[in-house]
Amino acid sequence: MTSYEVELVAPGDCDVEGIDSGRSETITVDEDEYVLSAARRQGVWLPADCQQGWCTTCAAELLAGEVDQSDATRYYDVDREADMILPCTARPRSDLRLRICQMDELNDLRAANSLPPGRSR
Ligand code: FES
Repeated sequence: MTSYEVELVAPGDCDVEGIDSGRSETITVDEDEYVLSAARRQGVWLPADCQQGWCTTCAAELLAGEVDQSDATRYYDVDREADMILPCTARPRSDLRLRICQMDELNDLRAANSLPPGRSR
């Protein structure tokens, strides 16, 4: 089993149990594990709601590395091109560096591209 190091970077306005705002925390994620569940297992409670890859609550910016996002229910090419990911359904394919708490940014990106925000069905 391959495992990867995933650095979670919390912006100053991001309040998450397990990471002080403005700081980062590094977790270990197995190749067949989702980033969100691995973070929770290690005491970092990333924002989340649907946990199926459509609501965007967990959105993060991929600062470095590669993920497999194929299990997300709703994930667009523009999301990928902007390096936005959904950690609830993202499996690492390399070590990663993620900026968490990016739901508003992802929904702004989708609105600018006439795509539905995460909470629409
Ligand atoms: S928790 Fe809904 S998209 Fe990740």
